[in-house]
Amino acid sequence: MIAITGTPGTGKSTVAEILRKRGYVVLSVNEIAEKFGCVEGEEDGVKIIDLECLGKIEVNADFVEGHLSHHLNAEAVIVLRCRPDVLYKRLVEKGWGEEKIRENVEAELIDYILVEALEKHENVHEIDTTNLTPEEVADKIEEILKGKIYPPGNVDWISELSDNIDKYIRKL
Ligand SMILES: Nc1ncnc2c1ncn2[C@@H]1O[C@H](COP(=O)(O)OP(=O)(O)O)[C@@H](O)[C@H]1O
Ligand SMILES: [Mg+2]
Repeated sequence: MIAITGTPGTGKSTVAEILRKRGYVVLSVNEIAEKFGCVEGEEDGVKIIDLECLGKIEVNADFVEGHLSHHLNAEAVIVLRCRPDVLYKRLVEKGWGEEKIRENVEAELIDYILVEALEKHENVHEIDTTNLTPEEVADKIEEILKGKIYPPGNVDWISELSDNIDKYIRKL
């Protein structure tokens, strides 16, 4: 099983749907947590998932998608990335509230999920979705299945944003 993780809005569910259409079994972390009794409760409509419980499950699927999927036992982890200003727009379009958007854009900026994934797994890949269509992201994931490596470390949002600060400020 390969875990597809990343900050909310990076396109995990969208690419999961494409991979399903291509014939892969793709589960979501929420359904797995539900099935294996790892849901501890619910707050504001969001399931509270016991991460230790997730770590004990053996999942039978090609992929599991979700921003907690790197807490599962996986052969490999793919972290989807998205440049923070573009992620901001995607989350606005999803209709999310300002506070939740800010929290997630900040998490993306500081590589929060990538760092967590690297702490737990050896085989971690990183795909920058900023300028890719969901189909192109699915193509790259299929390349990983065939042995291609997308090593982490190519994404550095803080440098990228500070190098282009004039351009971004003018866009505001
Ligand atoms: N590669 C992409 N390029 C542009 N927009 C995308 C891409 N992938 C997803 N989106 C859009 O971004 C939003 C978040 O995608 P979603 O798949 O729900 O993310 P996640 O499951 O990671 O939270 C959706 O509105 C979706 O249509
Ligand atoms: Mg999703």
